[in-house]
Amino acid sequence: MVIKRGEVILAPMAGYTHSAYRRLARRLGADRTYTELISAPGILHRGIPKKYAFFTNEERPIHIQIFGRNPQEIAEAALKIAKELKPDAIDINFGCSVPKVLKTGAAGKLLENPNVIKEITKEVKEVLKPFDIPLTAKIRLGLEKDNLEQIAEALIEGGIDAIALHPRLGKQGYAGTANWKRLADLKKISPVPIIGSGDVKNWRDIEKMFETTDVDAVMVGRKALSHPWIFTEYRLKKDIKVPLSKRLETVLQILKWMFEYYPSPEKACFEIRSILVQLIKGFEQSREIKSTLMTLKGCKNFVALLKEFIEKFTD
Ligand SMILES: Cc1cc2nc3c(=O)[nH]c(=O)nc-3n(C[C@H](O)[C@H](O)[C@H](O)COP(=O)(O)O)c2cc1C
Repeated sequence: MVIKRGEVILAPMAGYTHSAYRRLARRLGADRTYTELISAPGILHRGIPKKYAFFTNEERPIHIQIFGRNPQEIAEAALKIAKELKPDAIDINFGCSVPKVLKTGAAGKLLENPNVIKEITKEVKEVLKPFDIPLTAKIRLGLEKDNLEQIAEALIEGGIDAIALHPRLGKQGYAGTANWKRLADLKKISPVPIIGSGDVKNWRDIEKMFETTDVDAVMVGRKALSHPWIFTEYRLKKDIKVPLSKRLETVLQILKWMFEYYPSPEKACFEIRSILVQLIKGFEQSREIKSTLMTLKGCKNFVALLKEFIEKFTD
């Protein structure tokens, strides 16, 4: 399998980890990236969505993550991705448990049905054979109850190449804490590499997850949104303080990259706002910046004001 022991990975996060953010994370030291979840039936009906699936070589190794309910549909979507994008891996999302997705019987809903998980894994592995593209899966412990062992068994029997586990139940959302003990349990029984995800809050937690669970790789999610420098910190084994001006410059850099694949600059300026909010969290000037930038009309004005703020807050 492609995943090497010790890798630190940018977690897939819908609305955030499109090409620009993945590029940033790789430059800051992430070893691997994932796209956010992309609907398999959507791919078949409307084609591969550029906004989510566009990537540059810099983001490699990259996993294109898809989700769905029907094994044939997922396999067909995987085939299309393999042919058209040639990613380093394809990942199936069996974790997303938001009501909108659960209602369709897809993703996290399948955690209740390991037989279907096995069938999906088998079918997708079959179509990927000629391409030599590995297949990975991202799971939770279960939906309502923990049936991790049955889920893992289904994936392994289906021929999965690696498993990422966010050790919470689907019904928990992000409540409570990620149960790292279950990462250790999974690692013990798995013949394929295990990637741990959940509650890594600083670079020392990355070390701690490796040490206490023996996972092969660690994924960083929410912390990588407010502090993508966590990847550099882990490499250097030291804290890095990133001033506000540098954070705003980073927002501008991300925006410039977004212009390459967003349907319009206006859309990019609109959608970068959630990334901006994350990156300037916790600074006393955040409120002023947000209240000005978030209500502004027009992308040109947005960029001009962003540059003004960079000047203003450079010390
Ligand atoms: C805003 C947001 C969007 C997410 N989108 C996805 C997704 O598209 N696919 C997926 O497998 N996991 C998704 N996740 C889950 C993360 O990949 C990760 O497993 C989870 O946040 C736990 O890790 P953390 O504590 O480091 O954030 C998302 C999480 C967040 C916060």
